Amino acid sequence: MRLDVFTLFPEWFEWFRAQRHVRNALDAGNELRFFNPRETTPLSAGQVDDTPYGGGAGMVMRVDVIDAALRAAYGEERPERIVLLAPSGSQFDEALAQELAGASGAALICGRYEGVDERVREHLATDTVSIGPYVLSGGEPAAMVVADAVLRKLPGALGDERSAVEESFSDALSGAPEYPHYTRPASYSGWEVPDVLLSGDHERVRRWRLARSRERATGSRR
Ligand code: ADE
Repeated sequence: MRLDVFTLFPEWFEWFRAQRHVRNALDAGNELRFFNPRETTPLSAGQVDDTPYGGGAGMVMRVDVIDAALRAAYGEERPERIVLLAPSGSQFDEALAQELAGASGAALICGRYEGVDERVREHLATDTVSIGPYVLSGGEPAAMVVADAVLRKLPGALGDERSAVEESFSDALSGAPEYPHYTRPASYSGWEVPDVLLSGDHERVRRWRLARSRERATGSRR
């Protein structure tokens, strides 16, 4: 797939792009590109924002600037999904990550300043997404969260394909959180690994893991 990030701060993503699973996904034929709306703004002096109609604090990113950035990147052929990151969006979850990973292309638009002109949400975006009920100073960390959750689902991103199959919120676990993991030592400071995991009985291990995963889903255990 092709994942495009529209951001005024593409340098924020340099570290992200260098991470192993991201490089793996790109080596497997996927693309991750960055577009800076300041470089394609139709306004002079690199202007991208303006004061809000009706008054109030802060600056608002302009719809014509975002549209120009999309036009410069795609012409009239927009990607399947155009996601605006905003605290007022619908909550990002594993199901949306899966949908985006299945798209041929997706754009992530990072908002800045007080917000983005509402017409971006109404006319340009297919989705408005929040990563949680708190306000970040911009959409960049949110876009990174979304990009990470999406890219790790692509074939080749993870070293072991099983990692993405039976993980939290996956179909294999009926959407429940993942079961607990343990590794050596089997006993540490009197803290023991559950016997069943040392038993070598794969069927018992499978049933135990499913049960723990369900407990976590229902909150019936800490
Ligand atoms: N931009 C600012 N806060 C955000 C949030 N919580 N989710 C997505 N984008 C944001």
